[in-house]
Amino acid sequence: MKIPAQGLSQEALFEKMESYRENDVTWRDGRTWAYVYDAGPEVESVIKKAYMSFLSENALDPTVFPSLLRFENEVIAMAADHLNGDENVVGNFTSGGTESIILTVKTARDYYRKHKPEITQPEMILPVTAHAAFHKAAHYLDVKPVLVPINPEDYRADPEKMREAINENTILLVGSAISYAHGVVDPIEEIGKIALEHDLLFHVDACMGGFLLPYFRRLGGDVPPFGFEVPGVTSMSMDLHKYGFAAKGASVILHKNKDIRKHQIYACANWTGYTIINPTVQSTKSGGPLAGAWAVLNFIGDEGYMKLAKQMYDATQKIVEGIEAIDGLDLLVRPDMNLVAFTSDVADIFHVADEMNAKGWYVQPQLGYEDCPPNIHLSINPKSARWVDDLLADLKVSLEAAKQLKQSEIVESLKDMLGSVDTATIDDSMYTQMMAMAGIEGANLPDRMAEINQLLNTLPPDFKEKMLVNFLNDLFTPAS
Ligand SMILES: Cc1ncc(COP(=O)(O)O)c(C=O)c1O
Repeated sequence: MKIPAQGLSQEALFEKMESYRENDVTWRDGRTWAYVYDAGPEVESVIKKAYMSFLSENALDPTVFPSLLRFENEVIAMAADHLNGDENVVGNFTSGGTESIILTVKTARDYYRKHKPEITQPEMILPVTAHAAFHKAAHYLDVKPVLVPINPEDYRADPEKMREAINENTILLVGSAISYAHGVVDPIEEIGKIALEHDLLFHVDACMGGFLLPYFRRLGGDVPPFGFEVPGVTSMSMDLHKYGFAAKGASVILHKNKDIRKHQIYACANWTGYTIINPTVQSTKSGGPLAGAWAVLNFIGDEGYMKLAKQMYDATQKIVEGIEAIDGLDLLVRPDMNLVAFTSDVADIFHVADEMNAKGWYVQPQLGYEDCPPNIHLSINPKSARWVDDLLADLKVSLEAAKQLKQSEIVESLKDMLGSVDTATIDDSMYTQMMAMAGIEGANLPDRMAEINQLLNTLPPDFKEKMLVNFLNDLFTPAS
């Protein structure tokens, strides 16, 4: 494909762009239970206006655009206050949870390079429920992730198991508030004590929960302490593009003090161009996401957030009780916030997801891992409230339909075959072949994903990762 010889008219251009949306999920109707956080059309239009007003400004150099510096310092102040930080807490605006987490790990690595140079192979301790972004950070930054099992009864981190995993190379402990997969807060106070005893940095990943949990607490939810008020917590991440309802590209990383944050900042004076001093991974970056985030905090305000939280709190209660009342569906755990995970021992849960999605919902299947069974995930939005009864009714019907559907024979035979295969001997073409057997060719995914999910669910993690890399390597193929 070449750049078109002549540009399109605006009309033709936008018409064409709109047509590309044809197969996207229609999230504005409120029937999409993942990926999108929606506070309604008025908030959307305010964010867009603010975002577009600062779209072309460059946050590369905060001294050239003091407006952006001011937005950032105000957003960070509000975030620190929201998470009970004192006047020493500092932070930066980032592009998302993953960037905040990469920065956390980089900061910890470089902090210990200075304070304990004898550590040459740093390790961080991750409950298996810690977000995949920590693994990505570990991979990018050469810090070893040490995985520890969670408490299988309540899906929360097990502090004693974390303590046992500490050794002379440990630099960082991680807890979630809340975990994406199961929607619960880890025992942050207990992990904090361990961090203090061992003089370790301790990050609370509040990307998902940091913004909303304080509101759920004010509404009567039983939310344990998870912020900077907990002794031992040294950094926190909180995404504004989740339940802060900012436009995507909005998160914050906060540190207990400047002494720690110093290790996050990168400067380069060994080249011929302008001076590089970056607090975050990106260098040139649009002012749009930051302006949008500042605007949404100021537009919705605390009272507005309480109203939105109440809608989600009530919807969550109804969904949790509704699922508990359906014979054959089981919550993994009662969530601390509005993310719900449930499974079934009478039907394949991936078939339940397919049945639901065929009815025009979007629900997210999650694969099993160790003690955590495969399940369906729901992220609840303010708009979800109006759909609760329909959702529960369709879940019942979908469960009945799924009971009639069995585990795929292809998956059964692949499972047997893979049991005897050494993953080191498998080449790319074999992965492609296996995916084709499961119905995936290039970018074409089948409408029903149960078979693929069943297959992925049976594979060991390293095998699964290789297969997924192969898949994406094909998916991003230049258009012809
Ligand atoms: C707990 C938690 N941490 C980190 C992330 C990563 O955030 P992002 O997708 O914005 O990079 C997520 C995303 O859902 C999350 O739920």
